[in-house]
Amino acid sequence: MSCKTLSCLLLLISSYAILGFKIPSIDFEMLEEQGFEVSIPDEPGIQRVFYMLQVDDTCPALMDYITEAVNGSWVSRQKMSLQNNDKLQISLLVQFNEEIFEKSETKVILNKRLLTTRDFSSRSISFPSGEGECQAFLAPQQQTKRCKPAQTIVSNGRRACQGELIFEDNFSEAQLNKSTWKHDIRQRMYHVEEELVAFDDAVRNSFVKEGELHIVPIVASEVTEGSFKLGDRCTAVESPDQECNIAQGSFYSIKPPVFSAQIHTRDSFSFKFGKIVVRAKLPKGDWLFPYLMLQPVSTYAETHYAKQLRIAYARGNAFLRTKKGEDISGSHLYGGGVVWHHGNAVQFLKDKVSKTHYGDGFHNYTMIWQRDKITLMVDEEVYGELYDGLPFFNEKCFIIFGVTVGGFLNFDDSILEKDVKPYKNREPRAALSFWQHRDAWAPTWGRQSAMIIDYVRVYAE
Ligand SMILES: *[C@@H]1O[C@H](CO)[C@@H](O)[C@H](O)[C@H]1NC(C)=O
Ligand SMILES: *[C@@H]1O[C@H](CO)[C@@H](O)[C@H](O)[C@H]1NC(C)=O
Ligand SMILES: *[C@@H]1O[C@H](CO)[C@@H](O)[C@H](O)[C@H]1NC(C)=O
Ligand SMILES: *[C@@H]1O[C@H](CO)[C@@H](O)[C@H](O)[C@H]1NC(C)=O
Repeated sequence: MSCKTLSCLLLLISSYAILGFKIPSIDFEMLEEQGFEVSIPDEPGIQRVFYMLQVDDTCPALMDYITEAVNGSWVSRQKMSLQNNDKLQISLLVQFNEEIFEKSETKVILNKRLLTTRDFSSRSISFPSGEGECQAFLAPQQQTKRCKPAQTIVSNGRRACQGELIFEDNFSEAQLNKSTWKHDIRQRMYHVEEELVAFDDAVRNSFVKEGELHIVPIVASEVTEGSFKLGDRCTAVESPDQECNIAQGSFYSIKPPVFSAQIHTRDSFSFKFGKIVVRAKLPKGDWLFPYLMLQPVSTYAETHYAKQLRIAYARGNAFLRTKKGEDISGSHLYGGGVVWHHGNAVQFLKDKVSKTHYGDGFHNYTMIWQRDKITLMVDEEVYGELYDGLPFFNEKCFIIFGVTVGGFLNFDDSILEKDVKPYKNREPRAALSFWQHRDAWAPTWGRQSAMIIDYVRVYAE
């Protein structure tokens, strides 16, 4: 290359041709081994292409001067490996019929793919110049990536690098790790949450088997009016009188129709900002509802109306439609945030409809929680980006996994046809009504009603 300095190159940009040529769109590819490739397709008239690549505004920038097209494209191959969330700024100058054209794009890498592209083709290139500014260099050598400090805050105060694994449980031990996970032990309050379960730590409701965590809702053998005592094991914090020991003769004294489990990491691990991946099979069966979520450490798993970040959920029902005809069965996946305003839910959700029930198999559910955005993915596919509601989640959150039944928000009466549900939300004796109509729902339950979790991983962002 005869022209060795940037200022010299910049002199070349003296004439912008107004007519005729538009730089084709820039192709980007992650290489199998290490590094990546950017290119533009060849067109008759292109004589030279000059690339300047900058990752996350870090210096030095990479420069590459291409003097001939190979196999029909002008390619710059770089050895630097890009990581999740890297912002790659690509600026290029193209010499076309003796005139110079410019184009600039910003690409963001997510899971080895390009998530968003911002095209600044009309903006002029700000190639660095002068001492003290970012120095670009030619013929880039192999570079190793340094630790990029993450925005993630981890409960133990550890500083993490972006992309670092900060929590993992793949349930490969013989038993659930009791120092990581604590059980929520209480009866859900029928008139507050309208969930028709009691959570307990019985092994039949939650156990580890062959590297997988199973959370199994089990129908009670009988449901009568009568006392129900959890005693000292009960973990309720707000209304232990109604959630722990139900005395016979009180209006709500209906034994729980279903026993299930909910576990959390509040005492062992929490984080603010990060990427959580849960590989799981969701429960199938009418009125079952999975909890794969994050909740602020200022609350307990047992707190009523706690804000929640829902990593993913799909209802257990094989068929369920709203009055307006919207499919809200288990083929409809949701993720996002729920906050409460005077007992009413304000939801920030993204969703995706599939041809099959999400409980038919394992899927990888991912929530990437960043300062200004939540990205929701299933099986490496992004199905939503949320920008609203984030200020509600400005503290560390812990992980909750559970399977419940009913729930006034989970199965909202106001959107369902009358009499679809075997009980009414906020009806004081809903649990009894649900139980009495068990012929309608119990046959839809079975082995597939368990939620099975293969692993959970949290990475710093
Ligand atoms: C160009 O394409 C041919 C045939 O596809 C391939 O064998 C060759 O390796 C390519 N050259 C380069 C430099 O990629
Ligand atoms: C399971 O997790 C442990 C530590 O949490 C890790 O050492 C191990 O490699 C993991 N196993 C698999 C198969 O991912
Ligand atoms: C439980 O998890 C903790 C924290 O990750 C770990 O130190 C401990 O060894 C685990 N216990 C068992 C029995 O696997
Ligand atoms: C889910 O993640 C696992 C690795 O943990 C991977 O092997 C599998 O291909 C992923 N599944 C899908 C459908 O993307």
